Amino acid sequence: MIVLSIGGSLINPGEPDVVYLQKISEVLRHNRPLGIIAVTGGGKPARTAAEAVRKLGGNEFRADEAAILSTRQNAHLLTAAIGRKDGHVVVPQDFDEAARSSLSGRIVVMGGTIPGLTTDADAALIAEKLNAERIINLSNVDGIYDSDPRINKKAKKFKQMPFSQLVSLALRSDERTAGTHFIFDMFACKIIARARIETHFVDGRNLIDVENAMRGKPHGGTVVKG
Ligand code: UTP
Repeated sequence: MIVLSIGGSLINPGEPDVVYLQKISEVLRHNRPLGIIAVTGGGKPARTAAEAVRKLGGNEFRADEAAILSTRQNAHLLTAAIGRKDGHVVVPQDFDEAARSSLSGRIVVMGGTIPGLTTDADAALIAEKLNAERIINLSNVDGIYDSDPRINKKAKKFKQMPFSQLVSLALRSDERTAGTHFIFDMFACKIIARARIETHFVDGRNLIDVENAMRGKPHGGTVVKG
């Protein structure tokens, strides 16, 4: 079993990226025998919905609930792209439902679950529940760097790192001011560290790297293990 965490900005940077959805679904269909659960992020619509709830006086729980609907809508789009032959048409709402759906042998796509989490955490939790072989994190960053590559031109990308180093990098970034965010949130990092699930960080737009990571082959991103 392989779990993919697909960043919402790849699927839905403002409106659904239909071309990307078609391309990534082709990669998923092609690798269906691996056993795949894909977790989709919310992207811009999730942030917009959460912000609207806050403006209307709703609390963070309500904002998260609205954002979760956006992650599920993105899951719905991906199931549509995968098609009924290879994919499960129902978007699971929780981990038990996702586990049951995975028994069908079809590709399962889910969004968020409960307020307070992120879809990276959902991916880590479902991977732990099902003893997944590995997690692939797809985002628009091509790996984990020692500093922010958008700010520091000399930032160095790690090819591999142990779980302990990932947790300390996430902690360092957690302590910075609000608004900055690390590639994988702290909770998700702690889950993969305790479960010791090999996790690959790749540029989700580089479909060759995505496929190599899914198959456990070398790629241009970062591998966290050991
Ligand atoms: P994510 O933050 O995981 O999606 O979920 P994303 O678009 O991939 O995020 P980034 O910006 O690329 O990192 C979007 C929002 O949905 C809510 C949270 O508010 C989260 O910020 N959410 C998601 C939950 O409350 N619970 C979940 O289980 C998942």
